[in-house]
Amino acid sequence: TDATLTDGLGRRIDYLRLSVTDRCDFRCVYCMAEDMTFLPRQQVLSLEEIERLARLFVAQGVSKIRITGGEPLVRRGVVELCERISGLPGLRELVMTTNGSQLAKLAGPLAAAGVKRLNISLDSLDPQRFKALTRTGELQQVLAGIEAAREAGFARIKLNVVALKGRNADELPALVDYALARGLDISFIEEMPLGHVGRSRAETLCSSDEVRALIAERYALLDSAESSGGPARYVRVEGYPESRIGFISPHSNNFCATCNRVRLTAEGRLLLCLGHENSLDLRALVRRHPTSDAPILKALQQALLRKPARHEFDVNEVQVVRFMNASGG
Ligand code: GTP
Ligand code: 5AD
Ligand code: SF4
Repeated sequence: TDATLTDGLGRRIDYLRLSVTDRCDFRCVYCMAEDMTFLPRQQVLSLEEIERLARLFVAQGVSKIRITGGEPLVRRGVVELCERISGLPGLRELVMTTNGSQLAKLAGPLAAAGVKRLNISLDSLDPQRFKALTRTGELQQVLAGIEAAREAGFARIKLNVVALKGRNADELPALVDYALARGLDISFIEEMPLGHVGRSRAETLCSSDEVRALIAERYALLDSAESSGGPARYVRVEGYPESRIGFISPHSNNFCATCNRVRLTAEGRLLLCLGHENSLDLRALVRRHPTSDAPILKALQQALLRKPARHEFDVNEVQVVRFMNASGG
């Protein structure tokens, strides 16, 4: 079909971020508070419900699905879910964002299940700092996961780094070295104020311009107009044709005008924008209409008319109390 989803501002929605769990084996300082509670299992969508919704979105012209969490690979059955979703006719690419902790074991099965690209979080190459940033993560496990992913044959692997002054800013050129040496992409992200994480985000905020200047001390950067269908702006590095360096700059370079995505949370809330609470309760709809998609589609089209124009993030303030792990990244 040539069905499409369009929001109230005429933006075409063709990218769905699908969170399969709010749980995670890490407790990253920018994502979570030290002590977290997670959704009770009966409030989480079943794999069958997730697959049904993915099918419905793809039938409406969604061509890119990113599996997220929490940490998606801690959800039992996620590989089988990927296999089912990757086969949906009309889907151009199934991709995943992961913390890498389970990849040593799951990279091969994920590639075989049709996941085309992986984004892997990596905020430090120093074991003690990595532990301080993730609270419960082991650097060696993630590095082994990245190696397993490189061997598994993904079309592309991108490292995600949340840039933080005083925590990893001095290491950003070293992270670029690591990515370039392996032909990986790497994106630097400005921290967003989702949820009360118990520290000041303004103190550590490191703007994309600052990150770029740090990297430019070591490498010649060339502007590039390419896009991965997400919010990053990319540069190329002279002498390293395989890699791209991305900047995701919600504070310094708002990208909402070209927003093409919505998020489905693990509990089945369709979040219309990361920075607002506007949402549609798709869990209630799928449970109320077990066999007919028509009423769900109608509610979806109406909800998209309420998609906010942009986030209004202010680093000094938490307006959205929902944490990132409950938001689908
Ligand atoms: P690509 O497909 O590789 O372009 O991935 P992506 O950047 O869309 O996804 P990823 O899961 O790697 O997210 C990287 C960062 O971008 C995370 O911090 C996300 O929260 C952020 N991000 C993704 N989409 C949005 C968005 O719509 N709004 C905002 N504010 N941030 C977003
Ligand atoms: N701000 C920006 N990025 C964040 N991530 C998690 N929490 C935040 C935040 N508060 C990143 C993770 C992961 C991606 C899905 O989102 O590092 O790479
Ligand atoms: Fe887990 Fe990702 Fe949040 Fe870190 S950022 S705690 S890895 S969900």
